[in-house]
Order: sequence, then C-alpha cells, then structure tokens
Amino acid sequence: MIISVFCLVVTLLLFVVLNDMRRPRKYPPGPKLLPIVGNFLHYRERLKALGYHHLVWMELYKKYGDIVGMKLGRNYVIGVFGANTIREVFTREDFDGRPDGFFFRLRTFGKRLGIVFSDGQFWQNQRKFSLQHLRSFGFGRKEMEEKIQEETRSLIEIFKNKNSEPIFMHNAFDISVLNGLWAMMAGQRFDIDDERLRRLLQIIHDAFRLVDISGGMLNQMPFLRYVAPNASGYNQIKEILERMWEFLEETIEDHRKMFAYSQQPRDLIDAFLQKIDVKNDPTFTDDQLMSLCLDLFMAGAETTSNTMGFAMLAMIIYPDIQKKIQNEMDREVGRNRWPALCDKIRLKYTEAVLMELQRRVTIAPLGIAHRALRDTELYGYLIPENTIILTNLYSVHMDESFWKDPYEFRPERFLNEKGDLTVNDKHYIPFGGGKRRCLGESLGKANIFLFFTSILHNFNIERADDSELKLEGYDGVTMAPKPFRVRLIPRQD
Ligand code: HEM
Repeated sequence: MIISVFCLVVTLLLFVVLNDMRRPRKYPPGPKLLPIVGNFLHYRERLKALGYHHLVWMELYKKYGDIVGMKLGRNYVIGVFGANTIREVFTREDFDGRPDGFFFRLRTFGKRLGIVFSDGQFWQNQRKFSLQHLRSFGFGRKEMEEKIQEETRSLIEIFKNKNSEPIFMHNAFDISVLNGLWAMMAGQRFDIDDERLRRLLQIIHDAFRLVDISGGMLNQMPFLRYVAPNASGYNQIKEILERMWEFLEETIEDHRKMFAYSQQPRDLIDAFLQKIDVKNDPTFTDDQLMSLCLDLFMAGAETTSNTMGFAMLAMIIYPDIQKKIQNEMDREVGRNRWPALCDKIRLKYTEAVLMELQRRVTIAPLGIAHRALRDTELYGYLIPENTIILTNLYSVHMDESFWKDPYEFRPERFLNEKGDLTVNDKHYIPFGGGKRRCLGESLGKANIFLFFTSILHNFNIERADDSELKLEGYDGVTMAPKPFRVRLIPRQD
C-alpha cells in the first residue's frame, strides 16, 4: 500500500515537473526551462556577469532573435527587440495591459490602482483625468515654462553662490525638476535645501536601483517575502513605500483641510478631491488619489533628474560639444537674455545633442513592462494572455544597422546636410510609443531643455578631478549617473 502511494506521489511530482519544463505551444524561443524557477537562475547568473538587466536581454536577443520567450519564476516574460517589433507592440491594443501581481500591488495597498501599473477602462479614465487637469493647471502651456524658468533661476543662483567649488551633479536637479510637476499637482514648491525632501528623493533613487521592471524576484516568487524578507528586497521596498505614503498623506490631508469643495480647484489634488466628493464615479477614491500621486511623483522625479545628471556628465566628457552649444546659443539667443522654449527651433545643434544624449543613455532601457491582455499572436508566435512584455528600447537606440556607430556620441546624426533636425521616430523612442506613451513627455522635455540651456548660458562646466568618467550609469528601472563632481565657472557677459 505504502509503496503504491509513494509511486503515485513520485509519478505525480514527475508529471508536474515535466509539465513545468514545457514551453507553451508556439511560444518564442529562449533558454531551456527548469522546473519551478523557469529561467530565473540563468537570468541571475547572466545579470551577475553583465551588470545590467538590459544587457542580459541583449545577449538573449543576439542568440534567439527579435522575440525571446522566457519564464521567470511563475511568470511568462518575453523580450521584444528592434524598431519594427517594438512598434508592433506599441500599436496593438492586445499589448496595452500592465503586469499584475504581488510586487506591482505592493505600492497600491494590495489593489490595482495608480496610472503606471493599471489598465483597461480604469487606466483610460485616470490617464484622461490626469492629463486634462494637469493641462488646466499649466501642463504643456506657457505657465509650465514660466514655472520651470523660475526654478532654473533659483538653482543657478545657488550654483553661483558656490563660487566654482566642486559640486556633485548626479543628483543636483532632483528638487528643482520635481518642483515644476509638484506646482501643478499640489500647488507647492520645495526649497532646494529641503532636507526631508532630499532624503525622500534619495530613497526613490534607491528604490529604482533595487527593483527591475519585470517585477523582479518578489513578483516571480512572492513567498520569498516570508523566507528571505531582506534578500528579496521586500523589507527595503516596504520601508521606502511607507515613507512615501507618509509624505503624500500629509500633503493630501493639508489639501483636504484647505479646500472648500464649492471653490475652483487649485491643483490636481484639489480636482481629485472634488471628484471624490461628487461621488459620480466610484473609482475616484482616497487610495487611488494616493496611488496616482505616488506614480506621478516617482515617474516625474527620477527620469528627468537622471537625464540632466547624464547631460552634465556628457558636457565634461565632450568639452568641444559644450563649446559648440555655447557658440550656437550666443549666436541665436545672445548674452542679453536667457534661452526660452521658443528658441528651440533655432538651437538645432543643442537639440541634436539632447536627442543624442537620450539615445545614447536610454534612461528607461526596458521601457515599462506591458502585458498581453488576451492570447494573441506576434510575428507567428503565440503569446499567452498575461505574458509580461519588455520592450527593449535600448536595442532600438543601439541598432548598428540603423545608427552605424551607436556607441559614439555624435549629435550630428540628428542633423541633415542643411543643418536641420532629422528624427526617425521609429528608431528614436526614449518616451515609448502608442497609447502607453509617456504621459509626462512635454514636461520632461521642457525641463531638460530649459535647465540644460540655462546652465550652459551661465557657466562653463569643468571637471573637478581626474576620476574616470563614463556615460554608463547604475542599473535599475532607470539608468542613474554615478556620483561625479564638476566646477561651474561663470561665463563672462
Ligand atoms: C526624460 C524624461 C522621461 C522619460 C525618458 C520617460 C520615459 C517613459 C517611458 C519609456 C515610459 C513607458 C512607455 C511604455 O509603457 O511603453 C513612460 C511612461 C510614463 N511616464 Fe515618463 N518619462 C519621462 C518623464 C516623465 C515625467 C516628467 C512624468 C510625470 C508626469 C512621467 C510620467 C509617466 C507616466 C505616468 C507613465 C505611464 C503612462 C501609462 O502607463 O499610461 N514621465 N515614461
């Protein structure tokens, strides 16, 4: 009897194990699957060797082609590479979902909330509401430019007071950049020396380094939070979230006290509170307000500030390019006023440098993970419902067959023979594409242009020491520049 039960259990186990090692029918090619962990061990081993998530995927791309099928823990994850395949994903409604699971819900009280990791009708309504109200508080308009200009002036004043002493630049823009967004969301600005916010932004930077966009270990094997709460990152993520929630809760609470529902909303938080009060849409809740603020705050703070850090780094690595930008600005804007967004059209070389920077660095190399909303087909492969899709933007920006010398920093690639800007928007996609395209693109671009040109208008940026400087940063959901210092030497009028 015992022997037959034992045989039955072994047979069952064997069946489960063999089944777990089988790839779904017509699933894209990829490395061999192991039971329970899938390709997790292979992935970890390659990550250790290569140092960057996107490079692990690039290695798989070279071996298996434009669409790579993996299974990380319990999750099916496909990597999608190259301009054509990624465009197909961006333009098909089938792929407009976002992954669900333990890790993604950790931010949002165990529910599917927010804007970045929600989908379906809920996401559409929330995205529309956010854009509509951010616009009415200045987003994409002259008021936004004026707010950013105030911030550039105040930051430059602070830099001037440093009297050309070496300053850390990798995170120098954190608060100033956030202020533009926060003005529209919460009607507040923070002092650049605000220690509490600085610490909060530092923990956001740390959070972006801790996790990867597929959801990482915690999403693949949520039980790890019980067996290895520290090693799986669970404890750190939880602590970061608690500090974020506490900060946002205070801001929202202040709005609740100050805002009379009959009056005109002053910012996005007021507009949302009004919507909760009207009670005509049950999806507008306190938890959703908190989750929306968290998403916008995190997406807005990290990406732009890191891009600015890399822009400063590029200027000390390539001093000749810095000089060319300053010559163009002196010619087209002059020394009597500061650059403004209306100068963009004439500052073609400067624009080409900023585009080259965003191509070469690719701040979000794997974009933000998408999810297949239903069983579907992609170039002959079957993609099961709920598969996580990683659009490898890095593979597009580093495609040798299109860019020829992608590792070179060569802004001229964005200029034609007449010196006009030329952009192939299939091959240049720092903000993603399709319906999930970055919601903050116009704010991100305006911040980068205005901070970058104002700094170069006012200062020569010089190296502060002989340390080795490279455009390769820290890995994470976004690329982050490693700490470096510069001297800002005021330019003569
Ligand atoms: C240099 C600056 C920025 C870059 C390079 C960038 C890049 C991206 C990328 C690649 C995506 C994913 C697109 C996809 O899913 O396929 C994205 C989404 C998003 N970004 Fe940005 N972003 C930047 C600035 C901002 C700012 C300032 C905000 C704040 C308002 C923001 C808010 C968002 C949001 C909310 C999403 C999710 C949109 C959705 O799922 O519907 N981003 N961004």
